[in-house]
Amino acid sequence: MACDWERAGGAGECYAHSVAGRPSAQWQPLEAHLRAVSGLAERFASAFGSGAWGRLAGRRAIGGCSGGWRRAFCAGRLAAGPREGHGDVVSPEYGCEREAMTNLCRRRLLCASALAVGGSLAAAAGPAQEGIRGFDQTETDADKTRPWKPFSDRKVRVGIAGHGVCQFGLQFGLQHHPNVELVAVSDLFPDRCADMARKARCAKTYPSLEEMVKDARIEAIYCATDAPAHARHAILCMEHGKHAATAVPAFRGDIEDAEKLLECCRKNKGLVYAMFETSTFRDDLYAMARLYAAGVFGNIVYSEGEYCHPHVLGAPTLGSYKDWRKNGCPMWYPTHATAYYVSVTHRSFVDVSCRGTAPFDPARRVPNAIGNVFNSEVGLFRTAEGGLGRMMVCNSQGEYLEAGRVRGEYGGYDKTFIGDATGKKRYDEAVRNGLQLKKGALPPGVEAGGHGGSHGYLGDDFIDSILRGRKPAVDVLDALNMTTPGYYAHLSATKDGETMKIPQYSL
Ligand SMILES: NC(=O)c1ccc[n+]([C@@H]2O[C@H](COP(=O)([O-])OP(=O)(O)OC[C@H]3O[C@@H](n4cnc5c(N)ncnc54)[C@H](O)[C@@H]3O)[C@@H](O)[C@H]2O)c1
Repeated sequence: MACDWERAGGAGECYAHSVAGRPSAQWQPLEAHLRAVSGLAERFASAFGSGAWGRLAGRRAIGGCSGGWRRAFCAGRLAAGPREGHGDVVSPEYGCEREAMTNLCRRRLLCASALAVGGSLAAAAGPAQEGIRGFDQTETDADKTRPWKPFSDRKVRVGIAGHGVCQFGLQFGLQHHPNVELVAVSDLFPDRCADMARKARCAKTYPSLEEMVKDARIEAIYCATDAPAHARHAILCMEHGKHAATAVPAFRGDIEDAEKLLECCRKNKGLVYAMFETSTFRDDLYAMARLYAAGVFGNIVYSEGEYCHPHVLGAPTLGSYKDWRKNGCPMWYPTHATAYYVSVTHRSFVDVSCRGTAPFDPARRVPNAIGNVFNSEVGLFRTAEGGLGRMMVCNSQGEYLEAGRVRGEYGGYDKTFIGDATGKKRYDEAVRNGLQLKKGALPPGVEAGGHGGSHGYLGDDFIDSILRGRKPAVDVLDALNMTTPGYYAHLSATKDGETMKIPQYSL
């Protein structure tokens, strides 16, 4: 194991892990590990209304200790190869620079780690959220000077279903929102349901969503259930007269679900349907959407979106209810990528040509239950404007990405805006006229959360759209325009890139 900390200018390779006996190939880079621990500490502390404190405890551990720690552990790896330490993180006591970590640093780090471990031990569902990428991305450059203004005193009576591997039902701050009364929670597994109720401090539980929808008090339900059930569950909620939100994607695998969901929304125009696509409230996409709406880019000539998971190839993916994660293909989960066109423009893709890559070792190209062999798929989509979009869902090593960028006629956006003379003029005018490119503050008690600080904003957007009777950030058309193209992209990949038409939806 080569480790060249000093020569790499402080970016040497150092690893840590949390699970006793985890093979060294699956250890995380130390920085990522500490950030994940910090995120986990935040989520755990959130249950007690102290999420920010938890995060900061974790961050101080990173800032205060990581340099010495990294050196110490690098030295340790050089000297002895990967070794497991005590507790839940690798200890420098196994390295050569035993004294590099002060007792203070050690205390802080162990404190953050203990919080994190407590959080996961306390979870009856037993999620290894620390290892779930995206949850650690809580940084957001929201404009704190623009306070959240209550629109009304009314509390929307909400139910939440789903407390699985990602415990995603409670990730969006609905239970903390000042305009929400959390009436009930539900999960099919009694231990998960009980854990959810305890964490949300909710007295009422139901053994299933099917039971919960009968509760006449509940006005709105968020379904963080398994992806193949999203459309069915949203329809069930709306048919019982309730506003509905689901996690992504809008549907998974069954294309008929798209039409059924659309038909249900057509019949229930007074109800809000929202999909919680996290990319939509990432800082960069948020800015792009406002610039596009203000006409700054002109038409989008080309866009790119990526959902790239650098998990160890061949390693088991996350668990899931009825193993839905194992039975599909990359493009059935396209929305983190396709949002970088659809949520920017609120327009659609019209056709796609897509290719896939299967494992390089032919012996490992075993079709799964849907006959898929691809572990990555890359699609070239024609947009409704006449431009092109390259969207990909890629399981490979490299940077973890839920990311994207656009290039327009007069300007583009890739982490920042760059435009020609017309683009710059339009940009300056738009900003002069009050265009806000940053998200405003969240309601008190609601935290931005993971996936680029998007969680709290999606929860708030759902409630605000109910209160105001407006469209949510991701309505049914955007939800389908992000999800359906992936279905056709995979079909194209199975036909070696044949161009497939994509249905166009309207309400
Ligand atoms: N960045 C993101 O947007 C992001 C990240 C992670 C997960 N997700 C999405 O969040 C959702 C949940 O993810 P997960 O990993 O926790 O899934 P999971 O499969 O582990 O858990 C789903 C849970 O839903 C419960 N459930 C299913 N049907 C139910 C019913 N009828 N009534 C009550 N409960 C029911 C199951 O018991 C299970 O606990 C998925 O759809 C996933 O796609 C999105």
